[in-house]
Amino acid sequence: MKKLVFLTGAGISAESGIPTFRKAVDSLWENQSIETVCVSGCLDLNADIVHDFYNNLRKKYSQCKPNSAHLDIAELEKKYNVVVITQNVDNLHEQAGSSKVIHLHGEFLKCRSISDPEVIFDIPENSNGDRNTYDGMMINGHEVRPHIVFFGEDVPNILLAEKELRDADICVVVGTSFNVYPAAGLVGFVDVDKPIYYIDPDPAYVQDYPDLKVIKATATEGMKKLIEILDNETSI
Ligand code: OAD
Repeated sequence: MKKLVFLTGAGISAESGIPTFRKAVDSLWENQSIETVCVSGCLDLNADIVHDFYNNLRKKYSQCKPNSAHLDIAELEKKYNVVVITQNVDNLHEQAGSSKVIHLHGEFLKCRSISDPEVIFDIPENSNGDRNTYDGMMINGHEVRPHIVFFGEDVPNILLAEKELRDADICVVVGTSFNVYPAAGLVGFVDVDKPIYYIDPDPAYVQDYPDLKVIKATATEGMKKLIEILDNETSI
């Protein structure tokens, strides 16, 4: 099986009702600045605001369901060795059935130990059915924080992502503005001879990779077009 690596961003979840970061008026950052809730050290300065922010995010979006783009990617596992590298903190790829998902920026339904970042827990549901964290919360003897990679923090899965891209036969980027590094630089690890498709209704101009094959469409429409292209290539 050929290895097909997807690099997904907020755009793939837009049609599931989760707004993108930079374009939407009603963005995820609607009530708070990124500096307050998503930069290294923010928990030391604004612990309650940060916990509340991610608690609200979980409550607001945890009922969202995968759309046909997530489902198509999962379905492609029947024909390809599919790896999904996502910048998203939702779990829609997993809900859709993708079996290999690498999260670059964390997962909003999880929390992790402050002293040992490799110790990760599902956030337990409370009696109201909410999954909340709070300052000083302990699980199994670990003080925990939201499992979100804040700006200025290391991206622990970046080396794993690079490794997956180095031997990709095909790379497909879906719904990202190529604004946030190191994720935005990952396509540079794809072999120069291998095709890179980029599905986005408002694609960024990616100066360093002029050979990107742009599919100007939403994630759900673009995935259908991609599947046609892949089917045609296979049948030649
Ligand atoms: P952005 O919000 O920067 O970009 C979203 C992209 O999705 C844009 O290029 C849109 O044109 C595109 N888009 C919008 N609707 C779409 C649709 N229906 N189908 C497909 N694409 C669509 O989101 P990211 O590039 O993912 O980091 O942002 C990267 C990181 O910045 C995030 O992971 C987050 C944020 O700050 C952290 O949380 C650390």
